[in-house]
Amino acid sequence: MRYRTAVIGAGRIADSHIRGIQAIPDFALVAIADVNEERARELGQPDQLRCYTDYREMIRKEKPDAAIIALPHYLHREAAIFCAEHGCHLMIEKPMAIGLNECDEIIDAVRRCGVKAMVGHTQHYMAANRAARELVRSGALGTLVMINDTRHGNYFAADRPDWFFRKALAGGGRMMNLGSHSVDRIQWITGRPICKVKASLTFYGNRGDVEGSGLVYAENADGVPITISQSGYIGAPRNELELIFTGGMIRIEGGNKLSVSRGGNYEQADIEAGESSFARQYGDFLEMIRSGREPECSLDYARGVIAVVESMYRSHECGRIIEVPQAGRISGNAL
Ligand SMILES: NC(=O)c1ccc[n+]([C@@H]2O[C@H](COP(=O)([O-])OP(=O)(O)OC[C@H]3O[C@@H](n4cnc5c(N)ncnc54)[C@H](O)[C@@H]3O)[C@@H](O)[C@H]2O)c1
Repeated sequence: MRYRTAVIGAGRIADSHIRGIQAIPDFALVAIADVNEERARELGQPDQLRCYTDYREMIRKEKPDAAIIALPHYLHREAAIFCAEHGCHLMIEKPMAIGLNECDEIIDAVRRCGVKAMVGHTQHYMAANRAARELVRSGALGTLVMINDTRHGNYFAADRPDWFFRKALAGGGRMMNLGSHSVDRIQWITGRPICKVKASLTFYGNRGDVEGSGLVYAENADGVPITISQSGYIGAPRNELELIFTGGMIRIEGGNKLSVSRGGNYEQADIEAGESSFARQYGDFLEMIRSGREPECSLDYARGVIAVVESMYRSHECGRIIEVPQAGRISGNAL
């Protein structure tokens, strides 16, 4: 059986979803919707996909088996619930929604409607992260003693759509959008949830009301100390995660470069890039739909990422360490 699939939102990330799903023959992409008709037609190529400006109309008419939700963050909840109520399995872009209450509403709708759903936390599917996770699990480098995650890059670029800069629409700025990737890769690679955070944010961006940087001290369930440093102001771009053990170190740069030190300098590891991270993501999506296997990014897991990011905002506001609510709820295949 081929699963008829529709895309909601034809923005910047939609093309990666289209290519990822087209790499899996078990899916048949049938339609795309965007309020911006030009965008929908540009990506949908009307001779290949039927194009809509109203996603509800698309879901009612096309009755797809699955829907990909690649919308601004504030629309994830309403689109996920609408699609679940129309019997669609869901691939929801990260972050799952803009707060824990919204995550819970999605989880309830998915259970009530008997569909399957996951969140597209792409970090899980990147070759370097997967290889690092294997190395961590092997125990070959000894005991994990600290983690440093650093990611810098201009967040306030002129071509970034306005909704990203409004707290009410995006749920936050740099930390909600890109800090969530850091939280995800740290938790998933190490298999341990973040349980405590102390965050300090700044708001010097030239657009909107969201934070432009964040420095976070965190601890995981084993008490391992973690720093997450993100700057969205101009400067040298960087995207690096370093895991430090008693018997060596792992460094990941971007999603495809992994280096390991076993005492001396870092040496780049040979890793097979293989299929694209989005094709892998849709392989996981397919297995979830077909066999009911828990995906690597279950809704519970993705809710846990929001719990950490929300705790960062609370910590910044009150100036104290925040215990992440229900961090232990993250379970199963995800960690
Ligand atoms: N996984 C990743 O690495 C990654 C990378 C980029 C973005 N994202 C996520 O993907 C999602 C979308 O981000 P983006 O960068 O593509 O944003 P975007 O603003 O480029 O795209 C969103 C699209 O949704 C459309 N839209 C808005 N309201 C709509 C509605 N009611 N009905 C139909 N269409 C509507 C807009 O016209 C726009 O084309 C976000 O959740 C973002 O965080 C993930």
